[in-house]
Amino acid sequence: MLSSLLVSVLALAFTVVAHPQLRAAPLAQVITACTKPNTVALTFDDGPFVYAYDISKALLAAGGKGTWFLNGDNWDCIYTDDNIKRMKHLKDKGHQLASHTWTHHNLSTLTRDQLHDEFWRVEQALQRIVGVQPAHMRPPFGAYNDVVRGVASERGQKIVNWDFYTGDADEAPVSEQKRVFDEAIGKKPSSILTLMHETYLGTAHEFLPYAMQKLKAAGYQMVTVAECLGEEPYQWTTTPGTKDSSWKC
Ligand SMILES: *[C@@H]1O[C@H](CO)[C@@H](O)[C@H](O)[C@H]1NC(C)=O
Repeated sequence: MLSSLLVSVLALAFTVVAHPQLRAAPLAQVITACTKPNTVALTFDDGPFVYAYDISKALLAAGGKGTWFLNGDNWDCIYTDDNIKRMKHLKDKGHQLASHTWTHHNLSTLTRDQLHDEFWRVEQALQRIVGVQPAHMRPPFGAYNDVVRGVASERGQKIVNWDFYTGDADEAPVSEQKRVFDEAIGKKPSSILTLMHETYLGTAHEFLPYAMQKLKAAGYQMVTVAECLGEEPYQWTTTPGTKDSSWKC
């Protein structure tokens, strides 16, 4: 009796040591700041949406690039003809396209299977539309737990949160956004990694031109998240597909 119990315990111990996959999955790195000095990563969540061209044009005019954390089915469906054109434009202009997952759920409330679905559907859209597999993702609301980190790691993506938030999605007036921004750059940080949203007119047309002019004057380089970390934006690239009836939300 006792010896058979001992054998079982030893067998279990051996199994865990010999099969590392039975241990906890590795957790994705959580990034909240750029690592390259003098860089600012301006990021835009919740698109693709109607302000993509305006933001892109303003960034390029200032010699900068931005990063879009895209949803599949949030403010708009990623597969509309307009959104497909917007994403191709952003990719062609050298902005970074990353994942904000499919429906803007609080990922901390989902099961592993639900998480894989939320991740996969945006990856599939990015592969189909612009031929890229993202290397970075931002969880909606910035909310994650170890299950989310495990799934992100399995899918080869790092989690990217931020160290500066304008407050746009919480309806902070543009004057308040400018005030918190002035306060932040007044501290002369080595780098800035923002949270902003593509979906607000005030962000695209008022806050952004103001912030970019100040950043330029202060000598910051406005780069993608991948560039501000010295990393690749995509795990791999492929030939984009052609829209058919399976491209739907
Ligand atoms: C997300 O869900 C977690 C777990 O239920 C909760 O603690 C957290 O407050 C939620 N976050 C948001 C933004 O709703």
